[in-house]
Amino acid sequence: MDTPYQVGPDIHVLPTSLPLPGVGILPVNAYVIRAEEPVLVDSGIGLDSDDFMDALASIVDPAELRWIWLTHDDADHTGSIRRVMAAAPRARLVTNAFAALRMATWWPVPLDRVHAIRVGDAIDAGDRTLRAVAPPLFDNPLSIGVLDESTGALFTVDAFGAILPAVVEDVADVEPEALAGGMLGWATSDSPWAHLVDRERFGQVLARVQDLQPTRILSSHLPAASGDALGHLLQVLERVPDAEPFVPPGYEQFGHLLAALAHQAEPVGASA
Ligand SMILES: [Fe+2]
Ligand SMILES: [Fe+2]
Repeated sequence: MDTPYQVGPDIHVLPTSLPLPGVGILPVNAYVIRAEEPVLVDSGIGLDSDDFMDALASIVDPAELRWIWLTHDDADHTGSIRRVMAAAPRARLVTNAFAALRMATWWPVPLDRVHAIRVGDAIDAGDRTLRAVAPPLFDNPLSIGVLDESTGALFTVDAFGAILPAVVEDVADVEPEALAGGMLGWATSDSPWAHLVDRERFGQVLARVQDLQPTRILSSHLPAASGDALGHLLQVLERVPDAEPFVPPGYEQFGHLLAALAHQAEPVGASA
């Protein structure tokens, strides 16, 4: 897991990054919103669950959490969900009803603690309203983003993600061409259906994001971005339907990828 960092006065990022040898890294973020009723958005990957729980506790006592907003039930968002729910007995699990029911096939979800939510619905976190919004791109139909109506922070689930050359804490630190290439690589692999969309209607979907006038873009797979970056990020997403379709590694390429991963894992000086 990477070092947690703060974005603005009341948002903390719990970041990890997945190495993609020869390509770069994929950020995977969960977030804590220090609302009057504290909120955790997603729960990281399972592999570094001990570190995730420590990082969470360094920001807020999990027992104080009142809401756990699960954007969708993919494995890179549910890694510590069981442990967090156990450590946060006062928290309600805000998610799509079907995400809760689907998760109940692999862990005993306390369904009486589920606060089912749909796009357009909102929760009251004491000092602010958190509105459920649809992300413009998604890899899971149960995806639900969050707009913090008091600060304008927009949590966009998997949308606006990017494969990046290195770990950074601000999108402004990524060279624009590398950012655009990394975003297109991610979007075409994570939302391959985007090649099928009507361009005009997709443009309307992106315009709806712009209409929200977010002050920050907080993707699950991108370092924090200020609202100033929104125009550039949207211009990149406009290109997704016409971008080169993504082709995953085949047998041989996967073998090379495993070899590169093993090489990375070798202690320094171990190779002859
Ligand atoms: Fe996903
Ligand atoms: Fe994801």
